Amino acid sequence: MAFESNSGEDGPVFTIREATNADLSEILARWAELLAAHAELHPQLYATAPHAHGTYHAFLRRKLDEPRQVVLVACAERKVVGYAVGGMGQRAAIFRVRDVGMVYDLVVTPRWRRHGVARALADSMLDRFRGWGLSHAQVSYSPDNPSASAFWPAIGFVPFLAEAYKPLD
Ligand SMILES: CC(C)(COP(=O)(O)OP(=O)(O)OC[C@H]1O[C@@H](n2cnc3c(N)ncnc32)[C@H](O)[C@@H]1OP(=O)(O)O)[C@@H](O)C(=O)NCCC(=O)NCCS
Repeated sequence: MAFESNSGEDGPVFTIREATNADLSEILARWAELLAAHAELHPQLYATAPHAHGTYHAFLRRKLDEPRQVVLVACAERKVVGYAVGGMGQRAAIFRVRDVGMVYDLVVTPRWRRHGVARALADSMLDRFRGWGLSHAQVSYSPDNPSASAFWPAIGFVPFLAEAYKPLD
């Protein structure tokens, strides 16, 4: 398992490492915070199905085991204060750049935000993508999400496609 220590220049100390099965319950607690933040953005489109918890738990278990998939945790004070899930995914077969590194989820618990935790998680994930020989990383985020809309461009992500919805009545 890869361990990487990180600390802000003057800020609090945290560690980034690969997740294990033992981290799943704390990751799910952070996931609940991610869902809560999104439910405020759009109560209808981010409303979760009754099986959501079990489905996400199974998704994480798969990501821990599958090749070219990764779950990272940021730990501080013996707790998981943030996590990121990502892996290699495919764009349409017609494109030369087909395999890309996809960041599926990233969240930092509110008390630990603005200490460089998400930057360290993303840096660690992007290093893995580079190690797999990938040329690009991709993420989806809501333009209405103020923290994500500030974070991703701050670390070099440039919007490329927009996903649009129209309510049908
Ligand atoms: C987005 C999120 C993961 C950022 O985590 P974080 O650990 O606070 O981010 P960092 O401290 O690494 O921020 C790195 C840089 O991003 C920018 N940034 C991050 N959050 C910001 C915010 N709320 N407002 C403005 N800029 C922000 C800043 O440039 C920051 O550098 P600085 O603090 O030196 O100014 C966190 O706010 C979060 O969990 N939000 C709710 C869940 C979410 O939206 N996840 C992303 C879904 S795709």
